[in-house]
Amino acid sequence: MSTEHPAPAEIPPAESDAPPTRRTFIATTTAVSGAAVVGGLITGPPALAATEAVVSEAPPGSRVSLTVNGVRRTVTVDNRTSLLDLLREHLDLTGSKKGCNAGACGACTVLVDGRRVTSCLTLAVRLEGAEVTTIEGLEKGGRLHPLQQAFIDQDAFQCGFCTSGQIVSGVGCIQEGHTGSQDEIQEWMSGNLCRCGCYVKIVRAVQQAADRM
Ligand code: FES
Ligand code: FES
Repeated sequence: MSTEHPAPAEIPPAESDAPPTRRTFIATTTAVSGAAVVGGLITGPPALAATEAVVSEAPPGSRVSLTVNGVRRTVTVDNRTSLLDLLREHLDLTGSKKGCNAGACGACTVLVDGRRVTSCLTLAVRLEGAEVTTIEGLEKGGRLHPLQQAFIDQDAFQCGFCTSGQIVSGVGCIQEGHTGSQDEIQEWMSGNLCRCGCYVKIVRAVQQAADRM
């Protein structure tokens, strides 16, 4: 039996013309963080500068003036800002809730020029000159709105997350005159969901307030 060992594999020279392996490719690109690799060649600062230019570009913004709960407000916002985010993030009016943020739950309901709207789907910059009423604007002189009182009297909430939207929507429902019967209230309040299932008491509360207003 032969005792000869096979010759060791030839070690490639340190600076090889061979294409980089996956390991050397990753090590190189990691070390030169931020540089771009094009066709196996490392390029430097120009690519990095292009990236910075895109990131630092400010989104387009607009100035909008509207009246919120009787107070004139002027703000400059990103054109994509919803009325809900304007109220919550810019005006610190956090009574209107963000549930689905997609127009499906009614938690964000406010009145715009007296009409019920889902504020999460309403662009703030389209409301120049509008009158907005939120849950914070319903009580007058320290007295609760009759529907706020009715929600307490009828115990029409559990967790309370949907409640501000339910009350504002109920005010709209009453102003529209859709309170002739329980069925009618149910129908016209159907855009406001309550995951705690307080629907029977909510309808009773709207009916109580409609009777007293
Ligand atoms: Fe606007 Fe649900 S948060 S409809
Ligand atoms: Fe909890 Fe309506 S009271 S979701």
